[in-house]
Amino acid sequence: MSDKEETYQFLIFVKAESVEKPSEEQLYEIIDLDKVDFPWPWDEKTWKSFLIGPRNYSLVLIYEGLNKERFVGFSLFELNFIEKQAHLYKIVICRELRGRGAAFSLFSFHRKHLTDLGLESLYLEVAATNTSAIAFYNKCGLEVIHKKNKFYGNGDDALIMTGSI
Ligand SMILES: CC(C)(COP(=O)(O)OP(=O)(O)OC[C@H]1O[C@@H](n2cnc3c(N)ncnc32)[C@H](O)[C@@H]1OP(=O)(O)O)[C@@H](O)C(=O)NCCC(=O)NCCS
Repeated sequence: MSDKEETYQFLIFVKAESVEKPSEEQLYEIIDLDKVDFPWPWDEKTWKSFLIGPRNYSLVLIYEGLNKERFVGFSLFELNFIEKQAHLYKIVICRELRGRGAAFSLFSFHRKHLTDLGLESLYLEVAATNTSAIAFYNKCGLEVIHKKNKFYGNGDDALIMTGSI
């Protein structure tokens, strides 16, 4: 099997549909990955309050192997059912597992799942300096529609990207 043909398994948590939450173990895997590998991580308190808070969200965890042997990453959208719009908050893949199509599989899976929920479009902010993420979103067919100057705490500009689901 080539690197591009990894078998991935997915776990879905959707606040709008169920009150099921990630287990403590899953949550700590998410928090650890977010802390190390996401440019703008949340702390444990923020994660916990987001998961029990009023917002609708869709969180998908991706694993390698038929028995979910290895946690690979996650993506998190906030869902707006009135506007039929999803806002991508985070997508992260473990550093050592990048470049093998995992993010593309995860994003495609999550997008299909959002379609099933009735959502029609998505948007996100990405740091203008995050060239790998921008290349990734381009590959997913998203387009830059706007730039927000000095959007991030460190003074980086943000690009706003959108696409249909
Ligand atoms: C962005 C990120 C999720 C991509 O994950 P990945 O699993 O390595 O991406 P994939 O292997 O699925 O790549 C899919 C496509 O994205 C593009 N891409 C991904 N990483 C790239 C890089 N470093 N340079 C150029 N293009 C890249 C390529 O077009 C690639 O397709 P190809 O391999 O056929 O050329 C990953 O780099 C990451 O977790 N980054 C840190 C977190 C982050 O910045 N998230 C986004 C914040 S808004």
